[in-house]
Amino acid sequence: MSELVQLSEITKVYQGGVTGALNGVSLTVEEGEFTAVMGPSGSGKSTMLNPNLTALENVLIPAQLKSTSSAEARGRELLDELGIGEVADRYPARLSGGQQQRVAIARALINQPTLLLADEPTGALDTRSGDQVMELLMEVHRRGQTILLVTHDAKLATRYAARVISVLDGKIVDDARLETAERAATDVIRVRGEETRR
Ligand SMILES: Nc1ncnc2c1ncn2[C@@H]1O[C@H](COP(=O)(O)OP(=O)(O)OP(=O)(O)O)[C@@H](O)[C@H]1O
Ligand SMILES: [Mg+2]
Repeated sequence: MSELVQLSEITKVYQGGVTGALNGVSLTVEEGEFTAVMGPSGSGKSTMLNPNLTALENVLIPAQLKSTSSAEARGRELLDELGIGEVADRYPARLSGGQQQRVAIARALINQPTLLLADEPTGALDTRSGDQVMELLMEVHRRGQTILLVTHDAKLATRYAARVISVLDGKIVDDARLETAERAATDVIRVRGEETRR
């Protein structure tokens, strides 16, 4: 397996920020991994995922949007799999928040990205819709998709990810590779317990 993401001693201080949002984060993600990032609000999870695109990368995004009939078929299939096939031809303003979120997930998946960064993809969804989204992520992971997921939900993280990274105050404080789902749950509960005691 090859390394897909490599962060080496990354520090980020926002303008006007009192403390660093990231304080020396090092992380390697291998191709094909399904990794969850957990931690309290403000701990630096989203900052860690922020994909800073170069000017060229920004230019290339629309170039991937060439509309072909096979792309349309795949788009409808993705919307179906996400349970919103019946609203495929509506404008986003006429969709609920949860439906819009599922459209965003389909948009992220259609170009088969090398790495899928998902920051709270189920945050605005009810349990059933959230489970559908996670099942879809699991399915694309089975087909080889590398996923880095941010979630506040320890149950989701341990049920779906094989590796759970815990972030606190801009630092990685735990990096657990989970052998079995059951052991996983206790590992993460332990980590979160330590966090709340600090
Ligand atoms: N644009 C910004 N300008 C200044 N400070 C920021 C900015 N974005 C984030 N921060 C600060 O950086 C720190 C980390 O923020 P970040 O968004 O990475 O947290 P998070 O772990 O994703 O939180 P949440 O779970 O609430 O989404 C916080 O202290 C936050 O206030
Ligand atoms: Mg965030």
